[in-house]
Parts: sequence; C-alpha cells; structure tokens
Amino acid sequence: MPRDHEGLADASLAIHAGTGAARSFRPGSPVVEPIVQSVNFALTSDVVDDLVTTGGRNSYSYTRTANPTTESAARVVAALEGAERALVVASGMAAITGAIMALLPPGGRLVAADEIYRDTAHLLDQHVERLGFGVSRLPLAQLAGSAELGPADVVYIETLSNPMLRLADVPAIAAAAHRAGARLVIDDTFTSPVNLKPLALGADLIVASATKYLNGHSDVVAGVVAGRAGLIESVRDVVSLTGACADPLASFLLLRGLRTLPIRMMRHNASALWLAGELSRRADLELVAYPLLASHPDHELATRLLAGGSGMVTIRVPGGDEAAHRIQDRLRLIRPATSLGGVESLVCIPAETSHLTVSEAERARLGILPGTLRLSIGLEDPGDLLRDLDQALSGAAAAAGQPDVAAR
Ligand SMILES: Cc1ncc(COP(=O)(O)O)c(C=O)c1O
Repeated sequence: MPRDHEGLADASLAIHAGTGAARSFRPGSPVVEPIVQSVNFALTSDVVDDLVTTGGRNSYSYTRTANPTTESAARVVAALEGAERALVVASGMAAITGAIMALLPPGGRLVAADEIYRDTAHLLDQHVERLGFGVSRLPLAQLAGSAELGPADVVYIETLSNPMLRLADVPAIAAAAHRAGARLVIDDTFTSPVNLKPLALGADLIVASATKYLNGHSDVVAGVVAGRAGLIESVRDVVSLTGACADPLASFLLLRGLRTLPIRMMRHNASALWLAGELSRRADLELVAYPLLASHPDHELATRLLAGGSGMVTIRVPGGDEAAHRIQDRLRLIRPATSLGGVESLVCIPAETSHLTVSEAERARLGILPGTLRLSIGLEDPGDLLRDLDQALSGAAAAAGQPDVAAR
C-alpha cells in the first residue's frame, strides 16, 4: 500500500486524533462534530466553582472565553503543529497581537525580521513601540547571530517570507534567540504545519493566519496560536480580554477545511514545484522564486527543513510593474486578488498590495523589484495553469511588440 510521505501521514492522523467526533463511536453519533453556535452555557454549581478557582479554564460559560467548536478546531491545530495546546482566534492579526502582548514584559524588547508581513510590521512600528516596548528590525539572514540580537524578550520571524519566499533557518534562529534570553515566535502561514513544524525545531510559539492554507477555501478569517500549555494560557487571557475570540461558525468552517489540509498541501506542493520548474525554462522571465528550485538562495536549507515547498511562486518580468499589469490582466484562470492558500489560484503585484505602503527603495532592499508578480497556486489542473500563464506572458509580450522568447 503506498504511503504519503511522513509529514502528510502524520497530519492525517493528527486530524483524526484532534476531532471530538472521532472519539465518540456511539450508535447514531454524527461523523461530523455539530457546531455549538451558543454564546452562553448553563451555569451549574460546578461551572461557578471552576470560574471562582481557575477563571473558567475547565468549563464553558461564555463563548468569548471558550467554546466547544472553537476548542475542537484548536485541538486539531495543536495535533498538526505537534503542540501541547493551541488556540483558534478571530484572525491571523489577532493571533499575532495576542502572542506579542502575552510574551512582552513591561518595557520589554522585541526583535523582528525585516521580511515580515506588512500589517505585522505596522502593528510593531505603530502600536507596540508606541506602548513603550523596544522594537528592532534585522534582516532575516542576520537573526541567526546572537551578537546582532542583543538582549531581547521576543524574536519574531516568518517561516517563508512574502513575496520572495526566503526561508528562515529556524533551528539556528531559535538557538540564537534562546542564547539572548528571548522566546522565538514564528508565523508559519506560508508553509503550514504540513511542510514545516517549527516547534520541533526550537520555536516557542506558532502564530498563523488560518485564513490561508489551514482553512484553504477563502471563506473564513481566523488565526491560530500553538505552543506549550503555559504560554498558550497566557495568550488565551489576552485573547479573551481583548475580545479576539473566533466565532463558532468560523471555527466550524475551519474544522472542515483542516480535514483536507494534508491532501490540499500535497497538491499545492506538487503543482507549484512543477510550475516553478516549467516557468524557469522561459527565457522571458527575470526571476522564478521557489524554495525547492536549485536556483533559490535557500535551496539547500529548504531541502533540509521542508517536507514540501508550499503553493507560492514569485516571478519577475522585464518591463516593470506596467508589464506585470499587462500579464495580470491577461490571465483568465488565475484571478487577481490579495490573500493566498485557497483552492483557487491567485495573482497579485506586491508593489500594489502587500507592499503598497513600502517605498520603492525599501522594496528593492527586500528584493521586490519592479515587475514582480506573486502567484498562489491552487488546486486546479497544473497543465491548465501553465497554459494560462504561457498565454498571458506570450500575449503581453506580443502586445508590447516584443518577440515571443518562451524557450520551451
Ligand atoms: C504571513 C501572514 N501573517 C499574518 C497575516 C494576517 O492574517 P489575517 O488576515 O487572517 O489577520 C497574513 C495575511 O495576509 C499573512 O500573510
């Protein structure tokens, strides 16, 4: 019997172990766990005792604090991440805010990679710093050296950066963070736990936008945090008090999405790797970035750390953002939209979306040169996706009066 590679087989088992429905095989019991769309729960004397003694850790009383459907989704996330405990919260940004607020002591210092999601950077620069915390930024490549880190409480990175797909050397950065006395928080939105499990490599806390691969259907905004029970309980307090809880319907939909995460990731990985290889044979592209291509600067690290390269491919065309627009406008199957990780393939021009508020000079420093397009490769037939890209690239070149130099 063929077996999926280790990471995927583990993930399938984790999903079955995590869902409450799998644990109750009574006659007539539902295969799919029913949604508990209730704000409040009966206040029996046991619940009141628990509220008094633990603040309600072991019971349900009010959905902003805890809800059975949200906890089921959190159990699956914990199992997938190899974490003691996890939380499902309102959005990726709620997860990031909760984790940072829970970990920073009064006057604490956070060091983040330059290559992080722009809204996370804005949160750090505009709000975390305003509240009196120290925030410093270093290029991802320098974070593995503890000398550069200095004393810190939190080191914050992402597994794969947006949109250049630089891979964090998680074991080296975790070791450097720990030497500096800091905890390592890592956003694994772009890889998903199917492709990389940062907790096993030394990270202390995972945060992610479940809006992307974890849910995978572009119909839920949610976030997750995973790690050791003590840390998660601290984050839970912040999430509850800042009102950043997930709605039960979002948790229910997330549970549905999580059930197919391993098989979806397998297809995202395979299609993106194949497309990146095919695209890199075109002579009219300045760059094809994909971590598992031999031409990628982190290729060696990627082959060591990643079970799969994920579904993101970044390309750069000559002629700057105008040329990128001509190509984007000609794509028929791949749709222009922000976000990523859904079943449908998407394209965006980072200079006009995720990095709109970043100066051209800063974008160049991050390697995001004019003409860059980011592709989120979905679950469509990869041949259809390649045909769509080929016709858009060749059609845009012809419209601009350039010869068709596709070299396949
Ligand atoms: C890497 C990364 N982290 C966090 C977020 C924020 O997630 P959400 O939109 O669910 O708040 C995003 C959103 O695009 C992201 O790309």
